[in-house]
Parts: sequence; structure tokens; C-alpha cells
Amino acid sequence: MKKKILVTGGTGYIGSHTVVELQAAGYEVVIIDNLSNSNVEVLKGIEKISGICPTFVQLDCNDKAGLSKMFTDNAGIKGIIHFAASKAVGESVQQPLMYYRNNLVTLVNLLELMPEFGVEGIVFSSSCTVYGQPDILPVTEDAPIKPALSPYGNTKQINEEIIRDTIYSGVPFKSIILRYFNPIGAHPSAEIGELPNGVPQNLIPYLTQTAMGIRQELSVYGNDYDTPDGSCIRDYINVVDLAKAHVIAIERVLGEKSLADVETFNLGTGRGVTVLELINAFETGTGVKVPHKIVERREGDIEKVWANPKKANEVLGWTAQESVEDTLLTAWNWQKRLREKGIQ
Ligand code: WQD
Repeated sequence: MKKKILVTGGTGYIGSHTVVELQAAGYEVVIIDNLSNSNVEVLKGIEKISGICPTFVQLDCNDKAGLSKMFTDNAGIKGIIHFAASKAVGESVQQPLMYYRNNLVTLVNLLELMPEFGVEGIVFSSSCTVYGQPDILPVTEDAPIKPALSPYGNTKQINEEIIRDTIYSGVPFKSIILRYFNPIGAHPSAEIGELPNGVPQNLIPYLTQTAMGIRQELSVYGNDYDTPDGSCIRDYINVVDLAKAHVIAIERVLGEKSLADVETFNLGTGRGVTVLELINAFETGTGVKVPHKIVERREGDIEKVWANPKKANEVLGWTAQESVEDTLLTAWNWQKRLREKGIQ
């Protein structure tokens, strides 16, 4: 009997890639998404890859009554992977209250409903932004959680505390917290990829749209940081590698193997890359120039962060496989597919 998994935010970037890997692993998937930063057409892309169109319910996780009805209508959901959230660092500085409402209330609603519907585990999409600017790099899971540099990062810190406090109160479910570094790239089929609504906030979609001529010029937010070329350093991880880690995590949280009621893992490659190095890698790999200029720093940005992925490697048996260079090619193939389809 296939286990049924709820994926919130499942038409989003990481969510859709995770749905494909869950289906490949034999899970039945129910997606809920409010389509605020994704498009329902993503379902067609998922079906083209897996041959299975997941159940989809357009729903905002702030709507607790709607969530309850969804659980009743889709009986037997055993696990949840919770992606649905606002996730742009810069935007969160401009709209903090929207971030606190959207990123916190949604999680509380889900956790309150889990015991009522027999849901046994939740995998939570957290972020390396919970570390703030680490004192020691690469950063490990036991690094101190420093004051967040953005409301977005703060919501992820609070989310993690909500989960830990709830689990420790004795609820009948477990949780695994996954701290992503910087997810990039697209499925090798180019049937799904990153497609934010409006002007991209994240680096790679803005970069590929600039390379395609949709955007005139990429702004590099600062080159006066304490890094080899002055631009910020991040740990860019292939989105399919990241998706595969979620399948391992949901299997673990629903199985007997999870040693603790709450476990936390860094999902990164362990390699730090600067913004300018990334632009150079893209231009070298694709032969396409990316017009760019240095501008002032973006408020809320962390100077440099990359993962020590040893715990995920050893405990989950998961290691990122794809290089940044190869991953950038998947991002470019996806951008070209969007142009072929007349979407961008
Ligand atoms: C990356 C670098 C910018 C845009 C992301 C996600 C967040 C979380 C952590 C998962 C920074 C620079 C960007 C641009 C630029 N991941 N940049 N010009 O801020 O590291 O956060 O990873 O949960 O959800 O947003 O990612 O892609 O915005 O920025 O120079 O037009 O690129 O300054 O150094 P960030 P990002």
C-alpha cells in the first residue's frame, strides 16, 4: 500500500521537484498550494516526468478549516513535507508582518491538526539563514543560532522552536528539520524548474533571465565583503539532490529508524562559491554573457555561509551529487525551455 504524503507548497520550486522524487519512490502525493508564488501548470510538468498527476488542492495553510476539510477529503495522509512559506530575504525586510503571519500561523495550523488526523511525521523546510553569519565555517548543525539578519531568517528560527516545543510537549508525531543552503537548477528533463512570479528575488532566476535578455542587467549586491573577490559566498545545492534528501527524511521520520523525536540536518554541498564566481561559471559553461554591475549591498544579506554536510552524509546516507557547474546548465536549459514555450 503506497503511503500518502502531503506536500504543502508542492507546486513551488523545491516542492515540485520533491513531489517527482516522492512519486518515483512509490509514494502517493497530495499537494496543497495557494499559488501565490507558483503556477498550477507545474502539475503538467510533474505528470510529464512521473506519469502521475498528484492530487492538488488550492489552499492557503492559513485557512485552518480548509486544511481540516482537506485532511478529511484525503484520508490516510501519514506524513507532511512543509514547504509553503514566503522565502525572499530582501522582501522580508520590506514586509515583515506578511512574513510573520504567512510563515508562522501556517505551521501552527498544521501541527494542531496532525494528531487529529493520525499524521505521524513532518519534515520541515528550514534554512541556513537560521545561523545568521556563522563564526565558524563550514557551519554544523550545532552551531549557535545567532540573531537573524532578516525577518525571513527569524521566521525560520521561530518555526524550528515551535516544532521542538510541540514535539517535547508529547504529541504523537516526529519531525525532521532540513536546513537548506542555496537551492539552484532545474530537473534534467526541463519540465519543471524555478519560476517565481514577477521579478525574481533570488540570484539564479535573475541571472538566467538576464542571460536570456528578459532582464537588462544583473545587479551584484556588493563586492566589498571579506571574501576572495568581495562578493558574498553561498553553498549552491542542486534542487534534485535536495529533493532526494526529502524522500530519505520522510522515510526516516515515518520509520522506526529516527533515533530522536526531532532531528536537524544541513543540506548543502560543503563548497562555498562567490556571486562573481557563479556568474563566471555560468558564462564559461554556457558561452552566454551575463551583463552585470556591482551595486550597494542588499539589507539582510549574510556575508558568507557554506555547510558542513557530514551529519546528513553519515546519518541520512545522503550526499549532494551534482556540481554547481553542471547545475547551472540545468538552470539555463530550463530558461531556454520557458522561452520555447513562450512563457518567458
Ligand atoms: C544569493 C546571493 C545575494 C540576487 C536564499 C533563499 C532563502 C534560503 C537561503 C532556502 C546573495 C546575491 C542575489 C541578485 C545578487 N534558502 N544576489 N543579485 O539571500 O542567500 O537566500 O538562500 O530556504 O530562501 O532566498 O539567496 O539567491 O537571494 O542571494 O547579487 O539579483 O546572491 O546578495 O549574496 P539568499 P539569493
